[in-house]
Amino acid sequence: MDQRSIKTVEFDKPVMPGGACSVGQAWARVPQSPSTAERAELRACIREWLIRQQAVLVAHYYVDPELQSLAEETGGCVADSLEMARFGRDHDARTLVVAGVRFMGETAKILSPEKRVLMPDLDATCSLDLGCPADQFAAFCDAHPDRTVVVYANTSAAVKARAHWMVTSSIGLDIVAALHARGEKILWAPDRHLGGYIQRKTGADMLMWQGSCLVHDEFKGVELDLLRAEHPDAKVLVHPESPESVVAQADVVGSTTQLIDAAKALDATRFIVATDLGILYKMQAAAPGKTFIAAPTAGNSATCKSCAHCPWMAMNGLANLAAVLQSGANEIFVDPAIAERARMPIDRMLDFAAQKKRNVRASGDLARDDALFRHMGAA
Ligand code: 13P
Ligand code: SF4
Repeated sequence: MDQRSIKTVEFDKPVMPGGACSVGQAWARVPQSPSTAERAELRACIREWLIRQQAVLVAHYYVDPELQSLAEETGGCVADSLEMARFGRDHDARTLVVAGVRFMGETAKILSPEKRVLMPDLDATCSLDLGCPADQFAAFCDAHPDRTVVVYANTSAAVKARAHWMVTSSIGLDIVAALHARGEKILWAPDRHLGGYIQRKTGADMLMWQGSCLVHDEFKGVELDLLRAEHPDAKVLVHPESPESVVAQADVVGSTTQLIDAAKALDATRFIVATDLGILYKMQAAAPGKTFIAAPTAGNSATCKSCAHCPWMAMNGLANLAAVLQSGANEIFVDPAIAERARMPIDRMLDFAAQKKRNVRASGDLARDDALFRHMGAA
């Protein structure tokens, strides 16, 4: 491994069951930036190999805009993690190329075991996933057998295999509200900020794992308050992985797709955005002429933790995407026994989302819709 291309990353590593956080050490590989000529060549090569491999590109909003535009132009998708999962499952391509982080590739494979799932870099991980090891999580679940286990998508397949439900940021609130209305007590993992937001909104009884996203955890409430004073006309868009002091100042709290939709729909011309800056590419395209200001973090791009850009999402580049398409390397495999168990909580979420789309009703009503819960049972 070329040490010059390695960036060290520190993240919150919860020590459960108490939840005190120690510091975890990880790393991310920084891809080299191609020259303008190389970029054009790589884009052409990727287009050609997507066709040759009968492949489709499924990208997250935080990856390099070059990859986002290629996904759009070639019939793939750029989306939040819920829509990435749904798109990959429903698309008839033989190969899915997932430009994002590892849990997104694993979810795609679990939902489409018959497809080949490739990723530009298999080491692209997530601090929430790293901070929730499957064996420790299993012990936590074993200690609380009376609770319904709800895990965020940003976890390993083995953690999902212990869950009753998987949720993403776009639907977690609705699902927990529905479970709460049924009188269920929740065991939530791993993001303490998203869990705290859902708990405050729903009043549900939630026992929390204490993980966090190293990007969103860096947004600071005090500095945001000062920035809002400088721009009193600005609306504040916040991803719920952010701390409570930041969420409390939001005009809109939502998933990446929901924040882009809000930027488009709201009658404002200026927005302060508290999420990974990769989102600005799509936000600017969706709402041209509007101004987007990055919410303040603890620093000014000096470290991975303060640059408001996920070091692992940044591992997806044109060169490694072209290389995996040509070679077929970096295929995602999930142990079939784990995949079978992990599929149930994901299917439940997708069924719930489909049902919610059909019934434009409040979550409380959905909670009484027994069809949604018919697969409910022990994990
Ligand atoms: P979304 O589901 O909102 O896209 O979030 C995924 C993620 O990893 C945010 O940090
Ligand atoms: Fe994980 Fe945060 Fe990166 Fe999203 S932005 S993949 S939550 S580390």
